[in-house]
Amino acid sequence: MNLIRKILAAQAAVLALWAVSVQAATNDDAIAKRLEPVGKVCVQGKECEGVGAVASAGGGGAPRSGEEIVGKVCTNCHGSGLLGAPKVGDKADWGKRAKEQGGLDGLLAKAISGINAMPPKGTCADCSDDELKAAIHHMSGL
Ligand code: HEC
Repeated sequence: MNLIRKILAAQAAVLALWAVSVQAATNDDAIAKRLEPVGKVCVQGKECEGVGAVASAGGGGAPRSGEEIVGKVCTNCHGSGLLGAPKVGDKADWGKRAKEQGGLDGLLAKAISGINAMPPKGTCADCSDDELKAAIHHMSGL
């Protein structure tokens, strides 16, 4: 009786170990999958996996549309008005700013240099001036 109990206990322990290791393996896979899009590092000037041709646009490829730049980058703040950013489509706010800066080109200059909580190039380091201008045009309707 005692022996059988021992054997059963040992088997249960082996089973439990197996279950834990299987679960650990599955979890690792799942975690790796979840981290994938974040874990891939994009180096400026090199093509980004997944982003492909888009990432190399600053390096001589076809320029991206304003809509694309806004959707990828600017919307992070300008979508919701984070930190006081003028919202996409808020013509009154954009119009006032354009007046202050001397039009679209003045706004572009501020977008390149950054202004207050607005980081230089709106964090789009590989954006060309033309792409930034297209993005501002798209957000402001100017
Ligand atoms: C980290 C948040 C953030 C991101 C990302 C961001 N902006 Fe801004 N932006 C701001 C804030 C905040 C302001 C308002 C600054 C102020 O007037 O104090 C602003 C203002 C601006 C202005 C108006 C400047 C002025 O003179 O009034 C332009 C133009 C602009 N952003 C362009 C862009 C473009 C183009 C992108 C995307 C490539 C972008 N921003 C991405 C935060 C951001």
